[in-house]
Amino acid sequence: MPDYLDEVLDSLRDDTSGANADYIPELAEADPEPFGMALTTTLGRTYAAGDADTEFSIQSISKPFAYAAAIIDRGLDRVLDVVGVEPSGEAFNELSLEGETHRPKNPMINAGAITTHSLLVGAEAGQDERVDRALAFFSRLAGRDLRVDERVCASELASAHRNLALAYMLRTYGILDGDVPAVVEGYTRQCSILVSVRDLSVMAATLATGGIQPVTGERIMEPAVARHVMAVMAAAGMYDAAGDWLTRVGIPAKSGVAGGIVGVLPDRVGIGTFSPRLDSHGNSQRGRRAFERLSRDMGMHLF
Ligand code: DON
Repeated sequence: MPDYLDEVLDSLRDDTSGANADYIPELAEADPEPFGMALTTTLGRTYAAGDADTEFSIQSISKPFAYAAAIIDRGLDRVLDVVGVEPSGEAFNELSLEGETHRPKNPMINAGAITTHSLLVGAEAGQDERVDRALAFFSRLAGRDLRVDERVCASELASAHRNLALAYMLRTYGILDGDVPAVVEGYTRQCSILVSVRDLSVMAATLATGGIQPVTGERIMEPAVARHVMAVMAAAGMYDAAGDWLTRVGIPAKSGVAGGIVGVLPDRVGIGTFSPRLDSHGNSQRGRRAFERLSRDMGMHLF
C-alpha cells in the first residue's frame, strides 16, 4: 500500500498547473510544492505517503466538521431553519441564498459556513466559546491537539471584506444573529486551524465509521449526524464542480483553498490529500487527480 501511494504521488508530481489561492496573501506566498496523501481505514489503520505530516490551514474543509458540531449543539431542525442542503452550482464565495427563506443554500459555501459557525455552542455563546468549540471538536476528531495559524488568520482577516459583506447580508435577512465582525473573525479562526493529511484522513474516517473515532475509539457523533454530513458533502462539497466530481471520482469530499481535500467512503475509509495549486474551481489540482487515481485503481467510486 505505501509503495502504491508513493507511486500515485510520483506520477502526479510533474503537474504544476494551477496556482495557489491569491486572495489570502499568506496562502499566495506558501510553498506550492508539498504533496502528501493519507488513508485511514474504519479500523484505525493509517497509510501515508509524501508530505503527510506537513501542516496547512484547514480552510473550507472545516465546514463539514463545524456543521456536525452545530447539529450536535443545536439539533438538526434548528440548523435547517437557517442553512439549506441544496447544491448552489456557484462559487464558494457567492451569496447563494434560497428565494423564499433567504437561507444560504448549503453549509459548504462561505455564507452557509459563516451561519453554521454562528450556531456553535448555543445562542448565548461568544466568539471565544465558538472558536474553542471548533478547536476542541476538531482535535477530538483528529486525535491530537490542533492549533490556529495566527499568521494565516491575520492575513485573511485583513482582507475579509467579502465574507463581512456576505455576513451583513445574512444579518439583514435575520439568518445571522449577533455581532457580525465577531462571527466572521471566529469563522476565519476556524478556517485557520492547522492540520496534516494524516489528521484529515482520521477525521474523515470518523465520519466513515458513523461517528466513532477509529483510533481513540471515542464516539464523537451519532450515526445519523455522520450520514447527514456525508450526504451534504456529496451534494455540495465541491461547489460548482460537485456533479463533475461525484460522477468522475464518486467519493463525497470537501476541498480547501490552502490545497487540502478530504474524502470519505462510508464504512470504508477516510482520505486526505494536500497540494497547494488550485484548479479553476478552487480545488487542488494534484489532489483532484490523486483522488481520481484512487477511485479508479481501488474501486472507490460509490456507484
Ligand atoms: O472564507 C474563505 O474564503 C476561506 N477561509 C475558506 C475558503 C475555502 O477554503 C474555499 N474552498 N475551496
